[in-house]
Amino acid sequence: MIFTKKTGLKGELNIPGDKSISHRSVMLGSLSNGTMRVSNILKGEDCISTMNAFRKMGVDITEEDDDVIIKGVGLHGLKAPVSSTTAFTSAGIATVIGTLDMGNSGTTTRLMSGILAAQDFTVTLDGDASLRKRPMKRIITPLSMMGADIKSANEKGTLPLIISGSSLKGIHYDSPVASAQVKSSILLAGLYADGETSVTEPYVSRNHTELMFNYLGIKCKTCGTTATVSPCDGFDARDIVVPGDISSAAYFLVAGLITPDSEITLKNVGINETRDGIIRVIKMMGGDIKIENEINDGGEISADITVKTSTLHGCVIEGSIIPTLIDEIPIICIMAAFAKGQTIIKDAAELRVKESDRIELMVKFLSAMGCDIVGTKDGMIINGGNPLKGAVIDSNLDHRIAMSFAIAGINASGETEILGSEVVNISYPGFYKDLESLWN
Ligand code: S3P
Repeated sequence: MIFTKKTGLKGELNIPGDKSISHRSVMLGSLSNGTMRVSNILKGEDCISTMNAFRKMGVDITEEDDDVIIKGVGLHGLKAPVSSTTAFTSAGIATVIGTLDMGNSGTTTRLMSGILAAQDFTVTLDGDASLRKRPMKRIITPLSMMGADIKSANEKGTLPLIISGSSLKGIHYDSPVASAQVKSSILLAGLYADGETSVTEPYVSRNHTELMFNYLGIKCKTCGTTATVSPCDGFDARDIVVPGDISSAAYFLVAGLITPDSEITLKNVGINETRDGIIRVIKMMGGDIKIENEINDGGEISADITVKTSTLHGCVIEGSIIPTLIDEIPIICIMAAFAKGQTIIKDAAELRVKESDRIELMVKFLSAMGCDIVGTKDGMIINGGNPLKGAVIDSNLDHRIAMSFAIAGINASGETEILGSEVVNISYPGFYKDLESLWN
């Protein structure tokens, strides 16, 4: 797909449902007693991977307009997926192990591993080439401490994983990384444990699992950077309305700020305080941003956000704010390229193990567009303000790289070509249509 310079982006957009909340709705809806209607659920490829995995384990999930209806099977009602592999037990008995396809989705893989660790069957998890490179030891270690039987098929601790359900014990885990995927995997396993399970993180990561547990009546408390869940016998389904994804809104927030003569309103965007780092950064950089019409639905806050073209300046982004904007760092780099002065991003080594090494790719492609940017081991330093020129950008099958450079492309001279542009379907199938609507 090719992008050229635009000015005057105007309009109002309804941002698709939050990816993290959509995954958790499908998982907890499937494990609930009763029927759950999830409205405004994200129908991106990652969430479809989660839905298909639960369908393969016997859960009835149907679509009705923009909603999804999930008929929960209860905490112990999942069935072994239909087999595709034959394996041998230590006694030499042939068993058939079904495989669940995780696609490109780290969230599906890590959160489901916590659930599957406690079922009464064995299953293999596999995924695409990008997911097969991503670290899974971060969940294998704590789940094994709980008594899980979870093995990687290779030394590196990556997919495929083979998980045989076991009895689990409650643990306290000091996580070396601030990761909601790790935390949520352990807390979901904790539902099946014999006592309390808690996780302490270096900084607080997104808390959607904890909020949804509370909404569904599952006992879970948070104290500082520690989240604790109690074992659960079962819980009833309750309908969920998913707010718009701030990680998807982020591309238009930045587009509205850096594109001359623009004003964009994004409706009903989730602004949970564990996800709102980009709003705080926009304010630090001098951006014109207005937040209105806040509502609280099941503990998740959402609001309408309006941005206008602004003169931005660089800032330092580090420490506890990083987990609250981790997925927005690629588009924040684009914003920094258009801001006057220096922006320093630190403490973000996690970027190296996302769908791609996002530090390497942002440095490579922003440099190709003429930006003064250097990578560090855990971030980057950007000296903004130079005009950008078009370049050929390979998304490396990373949706956030493709969307970030589309926004750079409409603010650069010449043509910017995004290779593998269809990868946006992972999290935002209507992205290009929504973007074009702002100048048409
Ligand atoms: C997610 C957590 C984040 C984020 C990912 C979604 C989640 O990953 O990058 O896109 O839904 O829990 P980490 O928790 O591993 O940082």
